[in-house]
Order: sequence, then structure tokens, then C-alpha cells
Amino acid sequence: MARVIDLRSDTVTRPSEGMRQAMARAEVGDDLLGDDPTVKRLEELSAEVVGKAAALFVPSGTMGNLVTLLTYCGRGDEAIAGNESHILNHEGMGSAALGGISIRAVHNDERGHIDPAQVASTIRAAWPRTNVVCLENTHNRRGGAAISVSDMNAVADVAHAAGVQVHVDGARIFNAAVALETDAKSLVASADTVDFCFSKGLGAPVGSVVTGPTEFIERARANRRLLGGSMRQSGIVAAGALYALEHNIERLADDHANAKRLFAAIAEMPHVIMDPAGVDTNLVFFELDGVDGNEFRARCAAQGVLCTGTSPQRVRMVCHLDVSREDIDAAIPIVASVLQSLPAAS
Ligand SMILES: Cc1ncc(COP(=O)(O)O)c(C=O)c1O
Repeated sequence: MARVIDLRSDTVTRPSEGMRQAMARAEVGDDLLGDDPTVKRLEELSAEVVGKAAALFVPSGTMGNLVTLLTYCGRGDEAIAGNESHILNHEGMGSAALGGISIRAVHNDERGHIDPAQVASTIRAAWPRTNVVCLENTHNRRGGAAISVSDMNAVADVAHAAGVQVHVDGARIFNAAVALETDAKSLVASADTVDFCFSKGLGAPVGSVVTGPTEFIERARANRRLLGGSMRQSGIVAAGALYALEHNIERLADDHANAKRLFAAIAEMPHVIMDPAGVDTNLVFFELDGVDGNEFRARCAAQGVLCTGTSPQRVRMVCHLDVSREDIDAAIPIVASVLQSLPAAS
């Protein structure tokens, strides 16, 4: 079979040769004892790129968000998040299961925005008390939409006016910054804490980071230990993450250009309803009408094009470091021929 074009996620990337060499050479120590110089460098650089005082290296974005919520909230406290957020839909409600924290949903519009007025009226001073408002940028389930600085600030302003802090699930914050032609620091300036991932568009094999004030990060460090997320010679993986931060941010623009190319081609195909959120970054979503979504994915896979979906009829294709423009140009006719060959859904 021809080369497999894996559009399932930007998490499928494999470390490049340069990244592997950086990992092999990494200076390491026992990070739980505070001895790993590479993890320390990664934490310092991560804090710096998003303009926060300190950072904590964690194994995954899910653990980053969980550690963050456990640090903001005690049992019985409440966090606010968008109804389409990753925190609410894809993290197993770990904050409820492990921390007794409830998450109250506010509406995400088609582009992932949250209405500041709704946030203001949802915040509660007590019984339960709202401790944190969570934003997501880019917004995964809303088409990878990049949320602008002014939209981020508008929500942060109402939260802060009510004495509530703001967390950004910035798993793909650099995709947002590149798409908006700004820097990540400006994008999250109004947030108190920010989580971002190295293992997605940045192409590292493992890891995420929580950033924020020094005192917050020290308490988060204790919560990471509570969750079993403290690691030992983690400089090996931190070196891959450092390499990603230093080499793989600007090139995200290539993934965005590939996603736009794919989106434009698929928009012309039969049975396709393109996602109203459009394409800002590297995620392409569309709905299938009149044909079976599962059969579509199976037939694409049989021809070497892998993709996923958030429901049987909603397809997701993701552009990343290991997908070239030539791959996109090879995938387009395969998708077109599958759509033409599918029988009408009964
Ligand atoms: C917006 C967002 N937040 C958090 C995560 C969780 O990251 P991880 O898979 O590293 O746990 C993801 C993963 O796709 C995500 O898209």
C-alpha cells in the first residue's frame, strides 16, 4: 500500500532525528528530588514564552488541567468551563472524581467563544463558590478556532472583577498565536495560569506544562505528586519538549496552510457540510450527509488516509509535522473517490 497519511491527530507525530539526538544527549537527574537540569530549563523557558513566573512539567495535558483545578479548588468548589471544552468533555471529570470539584458549563458558540455576560451571571460567591474560569485556545471541538486577545481579555476581565481567577487550557496555544500573528505571551497575558502541550503540534513525544505564579506552581507541584505524576530522569523527555519549543513553533503555519488547502478541496465534494467554525489552524472538521460516516472512515483507511470524528457523521482531519503538502495533495483525490463510491445511507 502507498504511504499512510495519518490525519487522526497532531499527537501521532514521531520525534525527528534532531529531537531524538537532543533526547539522547540530555543531562538528567532525579526530578522529584529537584535534580534534573533539563526539566528545570524546560520549566524556565516554558514560563518565559507565556510570560508567567514559573512552570511545572507534567506527563499530559489532562494531568495539567487536573493539577490546575485541584490547585484552584477544594472539595465542593466550582470551576466554570465552556460546554464544548476539552476539560468538560474529554477528561473523565477527573476533577469531580478526585477533587470533589464541580464544573459548571457556559455556552461555547460555533467558534468557541464564551459570552462574558454569561460568565458574569454564572459566577457564584458561595455555596458553591466559583474559584476559576477555564478558557480553551485553540478550541478543539470548535474547529480549532483561534480565540483573539480581545475575546480572551473580555472573559478574564469579568472573572477578575468578581474575584475569580482564569485558567487557559492552551493545549494548542502556539497554533492560536501563529494563526493570530501574535505571540503566546500577549494571548494569555490576562490569564492567571496556562497549560500547554508539547506532544501535539509541537511534535514532542511526551509532556505538557502548567504555568503561573510561583506560589501556585509550588502547590501544583504537590498535587502532581499526589496524582503520581512526579517523574525521575524526565530530562530525557523534557529534552524533546525543549527541542520542540525551540524549533517547531513557526512551522505551525505550514500545518495551517495545509489544513486550509484540505478544507477548500473537501468543501467542493458531495455529501459534505463544512464546519461553520471554518479553519483557523490545523484542525479540519466536516459533517457527512446522506452517507455513512463510519463507512467513510473505513474506506479512507483502506486507501491509506486515516481520520477520526467526534460523532459518526462528524469527521476530523488534523494537519501536523508528519504530513506534508504532497501528502495533502495525495489525500484529496482519495477522499473524493471514497465519497463518490459510498452508497446512500439508508
Ligand atoms: C484542548 C485540549 N486540552 C487538553 C488535552 C489533553 O491533552 P493530553 O492528551 O496530553 O492529555 C487535549 C488533547 O487533545 C486538548 O485538545
